[in-house]
Amino acid sequence: MNNIADVGLNVFKNAENFQVNDETNSPDGILLRSANLHDTVLDHNVKAIARAGAGVNNIPVQECTERGIVVFNTPGANANAVKELILTTIMAVSRNLFDGVNWTNGLKGQGDAIPKLVEAGKKQFVGREVKGKTLGVIGLGHIGALVANNALDLDMDVIGFDPFISVDTAWNLSRNVQRALTIEQLFAASDYITVHVPLTDNTRGMFNKEAFSVMKNGAVILNFSRGELVNEEDMRAALDNGKVGKYVTDFPNENVIGMKNVVPIPHLGASTTESEENCALMAARQMKDYLETGNIKNS
Ligand code: MLT
Repeated sequence: MNNIADVGLNVFKNAENFQVNDETNSPDGILLRSANLHDTVLDHNVKAIARAGAGVNNIPVQECTERGIVVFNTPGANANAVKELILTTIMAVSRNLFDGVNWTNGLKGQGDAIPKLVEAGKKQFVGREVKGKTLGVIGLGHIGALVANNALDLDMDVIGFDPFISVDTAWNLSRNVQRALTIEQLFAASDYITVHVPLTDNTRGMFNKEAFSVMKNGAVILNFSRGELVNEEDMRAALDNGKVGKYVTDFPNENVIGMKNVVPIPHLGASTTESEENCALMAARQMKDYLETGNIKNS
């Protein structure tokens, strides 16, 4: 892999707090992950921006398009990492693992009483198995399809729905994944629901009181896509009345942290060394290719 700086291009990593003051330090390309671009960056000679990740909501795509700046993301490069954490979390919440571990840490200082207390905990944190339960997967791109296929190996029933592409043409999807014709059908059938769609005006707040009203009581919702897909006021009400049994979110904020039955995760979905390397390499290759040859290849 060529070092992008070695190919003679003026490329900067990490645009947070990075400002362009004049044309002499204006980059041709910017590689970034979660940083928000300083507005002034776009006023100069930037030709392309590559995000090391799937979502591009920290980049003003519309403005870039109007200015002729190409925006890349790295579809699929972190899919395995996200899939592994989702399956881990589905099993962990089903066995009350996070609550059980926290509770057990609270036993520190109880000395010889601990073994007896542990046996009491065993009764308090009885879980359930995922085998035979239904997992609904919304969005069957790279991550969603991997989750759906792998959940079959856990003996789960899997039902898929994609708001943008036909489920039959979804990326590498097993025929054993059932097809939901509508999102409501998926909501009604699922014990666990995981969502894998980009944040757009159409998907913002899609988990709202209407959606919760058709779900099974105690449905477990996993959000490893973007926090804004969930209407948090409606989510809080659904958690309070037991409609939602657990809400796992990789995008916690003040509204949900500390709430009973919320499992807040510090945006760890794609945070593995392998995934970071895959995303960085894909973004760097796309950028190099585009700046050297003009080829636009978003893979
Ligand atoms: C993504 O959009 O793929 C993730 O949010 C990447 C990340 O963890 O930064």
